[in-house]
This record gives sequence, C-alpha cells and structure tokens, in this order.
Amino acid sequence: LNAARQVLFRHPNRVPVVFYWFPWVGSAVTYGQRPYEFFRENQKKYGDHFSFVLCGRVMTVCLGPKGNDFVFNGKLADVSAEEAYKHLTTPVFGEGVVYDCPNERLMEQKKFAKGALTRDAFRSYVPKIVGEVMQYINNNPRFLTPDHSIELTKTNPELTIYTASRTLLGDEVRAKFDKRTAELYSDLDKGFKPLNFVFPNLPLPYYKARDRAQQQIAGQYLEVINRRRRDNDIQDRDLIDAIMKTSTYKDGVKMTDQEIANLCIGILMGGQHTSASTSAWAMLHLGHKTELIDKLYEEQVKVSGVGPDGKLNPLTYDDLQKMPIVNAVIKETLRIHSPLHSIFRKVMRPMAVPGTNYIVPPGHYVMVSPGYTHLDEQYFKNSEEFDPFRWLEPTAVKADKDKESEQTVDYGFGAVSKGAGSPYLPFGGGRHRCIGEQFAFVQLGTILSTFVRELKWTLPAGQSLPEVDYESMVTLPKHPAKIVYARR
Ligand code: HEM
Repeated sequence: LNAARQVLFRHPNRVPVVFYWFPWVGSAVTYGQRPYEFFRENQKKYGDHFSFVLCGRVMTVCLGPKGNDFVFNGKLADVSAEEAYKHLTTPVFGEGVVYDCPNERLMEQKKFAKGALTRDAFRSYVPKIVGEVMQYINNNPRFLTPDHSIELTKTNPELTIYTASRTLLGDEVRAKFDKRTAELYSDLDKGFKPLNFVFPNLPLPYYKARDRAQQQIAGQYLEVINRRRRDNDIQDRDLIDAIMKTSTYKDGVKMTDQEIANLCIGILMGGQHTSASTSAWAMLHLGHKTELIDKLYEEQVKVSGVGPDGKLNPLTYDDLQKMPIVNAVIKETLRIHSPLHSIFRKVMRPMAVPGTNYIVPPGHYVMVSPGYTHLDEQYFKNSEEFDPFRWLEPTAVKADKDKESEQTVDYGFGAVSKGAGSPYLPFGGGRHRCIGEQFAFVQLGTILSTFVRELKWTLPAGQSLPEVDYESMVTLPKHPAKIVYARR
C-alpha cells in the first residue's frame, strides 16, 4: 500500500513519506513515543532523509552530521525557527522576544544576555550555586526522607530553578521565591508541553493559568527592573543587569522593560528543563556506576585541596576548569541523553537537499536529531555505554570552553569537525545555537561537585536505570527515578 501510495502520489523530487493510517495524525504516536526507534527503522528503509506526517504537518528528517549542517546552517530566507516555535513559546515567554520578533532582534537579544555569561560572572555564580545546593540538601523535605531516597524528577527541577534564579536573576528575585512562586512556575510550565505545539490556545483553565503565571512572573521581574532603574542601581550582578545595560538594538530601538522581563523568562526556560534533565541523568548514571563517584571525589580532593581544618577547600570556577572528569561526566550525559531529541524549522522557500535530488517545499518542516547521531556507532564506539572517560582520550572531541563566543566551540572531529557539521551537537549549531552552554557546565558541574563532596549514592537495591520519557519536552527519566544517598 505504501509503495503504491509512493508511486501514485509522490512528486519525483519529494522526500519519501513514511506510511501512515490516519490522516492528520500521521506518525504522531510512533514518533512521539520512541523517536529514536522511529528514526532507526526509517533510516534503514529510506536512508538519511524521509518525511512523516505529524499532526497535520509534514516533517522532513535529515539525519547525521550532514543533516545537522543542512538545517542548522540553513539560510535565513529558507528556514525559520520562529515560524516553527512561536505558537508554543510566545504565551510562555511573553511578547516581543525570542521567537515573537524578527530573527535579527533575537540575535541581538542573545548578545545582550551574554553580559551575564562571562567568566567573571561565572566566578561569582559558583559560590551561590554551592550555597543553594547545600541549603537544599540540608533542609529540603524532599531530601530529608526517612530512607534517604530522593526522586530526581522532583528534586532536580527545584535545584535547577533555585540555582538559576539565584545566579541569573539575582538575590532580589531569589529572595522573593516562595510557595506561590513555585506554583506560578509550575503553571507556566504546563504551557511548555508538546501538545501546545498543536493546540497553543484553547479555552481551558490550564491555558488561563499559564497566561496568568506569565504575567505574574514577568511582574516580579519588572518590580526588580523598576527598582533598579529608580535607584540608578544597574551593575554587573546578573542577567537583569546585563540586559538593562545593553538593551538598545542597533537601529536605536530600545527594549521595553516588559520585553526585558519576558526575555529573562525565555532565557531561564531555555535552561530549566534541559539542565534539570541532564543533572538527573548524570546522577542516575553515577548511582549505577558508583566507582565513578569515587573518581569524582578524588578529583575534588586533588584540585581543590584540603584546608588545615581537614575539610575540602571551597569549590571555585577556576577549580572546575581543572576538573576533567566532572566535565566529561556532563558531556557523556549530554551525549546519551541530549535533552532535545528533535529540533526543527519551517521551510520558507524550496530547499534542495544536498547530495540528493530531493526538494523540500515551503510549508513543510525540516527536522534534525543530534541526539540520535550521538548514539551512532560510526562516531561513538559502544555508543550505548555510559563512559565519561571516552572524552579524556587524546583523540576525543574537545570543547574549547575558554573562548566565550558561541561560534568558537569546536568539537574537533576530523573531517566533520567544524560547527554544525559535528556528530556531537547537544547545544545545536548555527544562528540558533545555545548561549547557555558554559552556564550549563558551571551549574551542572557545581551541583554535581557539591553532591559528590557531601554524599555517596546508588540506585535503589535491585533497580536499574529508568526508561526515557520522550513524550515531555525534554528526554526526562521516567518515574521512579530515585537514588539512595548516604552522607560522607
Ligand atoms: C538554544 C540545548 C541550557 C538558553 C538551544 C538549542 C539547543 C539547546 C539544542 C538550539 C535549539 C534550536 O536550534 O532550535 C541546551 C542544553 C542545555 C541548555 C542541552 C543544558 C544542558 C541552556 C541554558 C540557557 C539556554 C542554561 C540559558 C542560560 C538558550 C537560548 C537558545 C538556546 C537563549 C537560543 C535559541 C535560539 O537562538 O533560537 N539550547 N540548552 N540554554 N538555549 Fe540552550
């Protein structure tokens, strides 16, 4: 049937379409539940390019490093991220920022934010993150369970939001974070679900709660912005300062304070689920291979040293840069559990797929999956194995984190080494590449180091690693995702 359909209806230059039974729905169920299996099966049938129907949209998958290059480096006139994402993101972030503005505005907004992502900023963030983690593990009821087991899908989103708001939004915003704020973030989060790609607005209470939460969270940031403006108190403390300082576009237009607040929401959201998922998976893998926790502890002792009181010296940003193992644990976690399994763009002009005679027409979408390539044996031997030490071999991929420009991260893979053509792209590539990579390494490295300094942990007796939940926005572990800890 599929073959007949392809012969009868297929345009000669069209990428082959995966067979589906139900119009509109298309392959939503098989793709949605197990995207990597879906890619693998269809790659076997069609090669690196195939299309499928997803809730009324035609998605053309472009696998492998060449596919990444084609999509991430697509010309601005050919591919649009805002057309692909804005229905989902605008109600959550608010108007006038990220995908609710022309791309050249987003490029400048990313530059404004960079003032909060410098090495000096990171130096000031590390002790704050340590403080937040210590407070959490010493006082939070989710941590202080009678059996010392913690559910990482609950604890790690909280650790992420506390550490990110304390550092990026500053002490004032963090100080106001209470139960009500947590509820607001949870309501806002409900708008950040795959379903919202398809139905961005319905007259349901949950959409109203999302919109109210957006206004109230932006309102909290606006209070801080107003106070700082009134007192002429704009420094170099955090993201709010960084954006307030620089937020005039090249053409002289200034961002409004509402837009500054919305941009802060967008940036925080960019790092929230991605980092929370990564720290949860890292802790699970470490609990599975506990010998790695010992290695990480030895690294802390070796680099930070022990003070006269017999305790480890406080962790610093500069120490973290000298700790290859903890950074390799993060890289390896992002290889196996790239938080975003699919990244896509709307096609705006006919696009010829290089090396084929396919043309993707406007109105279709192109999709890449760096996370799928991360599991390809061609690039990573024993690709299913969690082995941080693969990153410490002389031939391994290197991330040059000393350079602060997003364009200077080069993962050195020989022939396919540069930019968006690398087989290792957890942070994407091209103009939409992540600006939060270095922050994520600082945040994750500090959280993991603090855990290792304070605790030892394992998976609960008799349990193995949880399965991946591909149906949420990021590739979270499924419940239960527990570890059992003991204090050092
Ligand atoms: C973009 C991954 C953390 C802010 C991206 C993209 C990826 C990504 C794959 C490209 C999306 C696309 O091309 O459509 C990750 C991962 C993270 C992480 C794996 C953590 C482990 C962060 C953090 C922040 C952040 C901590 C903020 C401090 C952003 C922003 C963009 C972005 C602003 C740009 C969006 C654009 O230009 O379209 N991230 N991210 N991310 N990320 Fe991250």
